[in-house]
Amino acid sequence: MKGIVFGAGFLGTRIANEFGYELVGREVNVLNSDFLSDFLDKEKPDIVVNAIGKTGRPNIDWCESHKEETFEANVTIAENLAASCSKKGIYFVHLGSGCIYRGNNNGKGYSEEDEPNLQGQFYAKTKILAEKRLKKFPCLQIRIRMPIDDRPHERNLIDKLVKYSKVLDAQNSMTTVPHMLSALEVLVERKKTGVYNLTNPSTISPAEIMQMYKEIIEPSHEFEAISLEKLDKETEAKRSNCMLNTAKLESEGIGLPEIPQSVEECLLGYMIYQK
Ligand SMILES: NC(=O)c1ccc[n+]([C@@H]2O[C@H](COP(=O)([O-])OP(=O)(O)OC[C@H]3O[C@@H](n4cnc5c(N)ncnc54)[C@H](OP(=O)(O)O)[C@@H]3O)[C@@H](O)[C@H]2O)c1
Repeated sequence: MKGIVFGAGFLGTRIANEFGYELVGREVNVLNSDFLSDFLDKEKPDIVVNAIGKTGRPNIDWCESHKEETFEANVTIAENLAASCSKKGIYFVHLGSGCIYRGNNNGKGYSEEDEPNLQGQFYAKTKILAEKRLKKFPCLQIRIRMPIDDRPHERNLIDKLVKYSKVLDAQNSMTTVPHMLSALEVLVERKKTGVYNLTNPSTISPAEIMQMYKEIIEPSHEFEAISLEKLDKETEAKRSNCMLNTAKLESEGIGLPEIPQSVEECLLGYMIYQK
């Protein structure tokens, strides 16, 4: 099966390497529908994965002051790719985000059917809009949250948290990349369409991850655990803190390990690269 991944960033590269798909960067102008159509006709992929997106650097506050670029990457490009693939009968996978909620929905976690409730953040607005618009196409949308990998990368949550002196102590659903890849493999094999929360079950806090990092990798690492109320006062865009419900994924027989165990596995893998 021939696969093409658009977006040669953190997750796009991981997916392309894992599945042996071709990785396409900025050389293909995905905003130009004719150019994109010719490219797809020439390459004839069976599957296209969209890993293009603007998440902001150093963080999502960037999206507040770069709204046009964020909208173009997260909404316009996603819709262009989905429409082209749909016309040509190519199976299409889009990397969505679970960072579109706040809260834990009375302990149940938010399901794929729950209306997003995160206000006051432009990045989330674009991911919500893209998800809605892509629902009209027969594609798979996976909602990822705070990806944690078993190897260093500037976008790996572990690398990000290590740089912060103050770390949030609030429970969240998160995605470990090695397990995300295993789940994605099954969903793709079955040609699933629709929206899936692709997070590990249960929750963990960023501060708990740093405590585990201290115990497993760097005992001298120092950080201060802070509350959500305190973090809100220090950031421009409101951060998403939420729990997602993973029952839909589990109903497919895809049971990922709970997040604390999975983070520990990632940290043990990460340690090998640190030595
Ligand atoms: N990382 C996360 O925390 C996270 C969580 C949930 C969901 N996601 C979603 O996963 C997707 C990939 O995220 P990532 O973490 O892999 O981000 P990333 O490392 O920043 O990669 C994004 C890629 O998109 C490319 N890109 C951005 N704007 C583009 C444009 N206008 N035209 C063509 N290419 C463009 C970037 O190219 P340049 O480098 O040349 O700009 C980069 O290669 C995004 O849709 C994101 O919303 C990420």
